[in-house]
Amino acid sequence: MKIGIIYGSSGGNTEDAAEKIIKALGLNDRHLHDISETDAETFDLYEFIIFASSSTGTGNMQPDWAEFRDELESVDFSDKTVAFVGMGDQMMFPDSFLGGISHLYNIVAGRAEKIIGGKWSTEGYEFNKSNFVNKGAFLGLALDADNQPELTDERIGTWVQQIKQELGTV
Ligand SMILES: Cc1cc2nc3c(=O)[nH]c(=O)nc-3n(C[C@H](O)[C@H](O)[C@H](O)COP(=O)(O)O)c2cc1C
Repeated sequence: MKIGIIYGSSGGNTEDAAEKIIKALGLNDRHLHDISETDAETFDLYEFIIFASSSTGTGNMQPDWAEFRDELESVDFSDKTVAFVGMGDQMMFPDSFLGGISHLYNIVAGRAEKIIGGKWSTEGYEFNKSNFVNKGAFLGLALDADNQPELTDERIGTWVQQIKQELGTV
């Protein structure tokens, strides 16, 4: 299966996490794409796409993803599997934790063939509200490089195992 990660990162935290995920999946870096340097055709290269994003404003889309929004709405995801990775700051933004990735989820998930990597437990996080939560669980991997950097590697390792299982590759 052709797997790619497409991320938007303002200060490098999401980029770092995306690099770790691509390594954990055992894939070459060329399958890692910064949305600010990506066109809609890049999405056609992959059968499984991992979306990664931080937030800005109060739960707003990361700026590079926001700029790509119109194009994103025109991409056909109907034969694609998708997964989502949010990077946020639960302490500074407890009422809009991971808002950025929730916008991407809302734009993409309903049009994809399959969503994996969801139902990620909220245990170990402290926040009031997140639009990236549904029925008590995150809709994908939740990371916080500002407050819990020491948990990032472990969370990525566990999540990558989860998606591999869902893909049936382990
Ligand atoms: C202006 C600004 C607004 C932010 N708003 C949110 C927010 O609403 N929710 C959230 O979870 N994180 C928010 N953050 C935190 C970033 O998402 C977090 O620092 C993230 O690690 C940045 O990742 P990046 O370096 O990949 O952009 C905000 C950060 C900044 C600078």
